[in-house]
Amino acid sequence: MSAIAQQDLPRHVAVIMDGNGRWATSRGLSRVQGHRKGKDSVREVVETAREIGIEFLTLYAFSSENWQRPEREVSALMRLLRRYLKTELNKMMRYEIRLRAIGNLRKLPAEILKEIRHVEQETRKNTRMTVILAVSYGSRDEIIKATRKLARQVRDGVIAPEDIDETSFAGALMTAGIPDPDLLIRTSGEMRVSNFLLWQIAYAELYVTRTLWPDFRREQFLEAMEYYKSRDRRFGLTEEQLAEAK
Ligand code: IPE
Ligand code: IPE
Ligand code: MG
Repeated sequence: MSAIAQQDLPRHVAVIMDGNGRWATSRGLSRVQGHRKGKDSVREVVETAREIGIEFLTLYAFSSENWQRPEREVSALMRLLRRYLKTELNKMMRYEIRLRAIGNLRKLPAEILKEIRHVEQETRKNTRMTVILAVSYGSRDEIIKATRKLARQVRDGVIAPEDIDETSFAGALMTAGIPDPDLLIRTSGEMRVSNFLLWQIAYAELYVTRTLWPDFRREQFLEAMEYYKSRDRRFGLTEEQLAEAK
């Protein structure tokens, strides 16, 4: 997309892909059919992001709270995830996309975890874009785990309490090495973050659209990019300071 200048683009876009159920129910379909349709949006958004030069794309696919959904829906989502990983590997290689997964992955069925590790391994040298799949992910869980990790290091005398700062804390999170999201998109209109990347979105621009996830495609993604370009990111500074810095 040449109309969008590279330098104005977010480096990292994170997406809360919400609204599959409502999309389906409003059409008299089952929720699972909504998730199936949502998979097509995932494909299209990944392709568009790659095409315009987004470096990092994080997709919230399944939250730690989503385990409490009806068993039938959970297993359908797991099947869809598995099929997605199997069918998209070729494309990831062709487009030089690297896949990473974050979340409490040990809770996943063994064959899904195996598939995730396989795709991570196969794509590890791809450098054009990184897709971070948040599955069985909860931000509070991630923060607790990071805290425990640092506490163990203090206990073992590897670091001192004073060594815990924003950098080392970020490095103990599952997103270690990944820059913070510049833009957070949530579809289906809900103005909440649902336990997603709480630490990492401290300064992200927020974009909430009423469009339901199965209807969120290339055009809608590009609209979000336009929105981002129109934002004035200040990071706590004054307009004058920012003008000077430029
Ligand atoms: C998002 O769609 C997908 C997942 C959470 C897995 P939902 O299934 O939450 O759809 P709504 O919010 O019920 O419409
Ligand atoms: C957030 O959507 C999780 C994902 C998109 C995977 P939910 O539908 O689970 O969130 P709530 O229940 O609206 O907060
Ligand atoms: Mg929802």
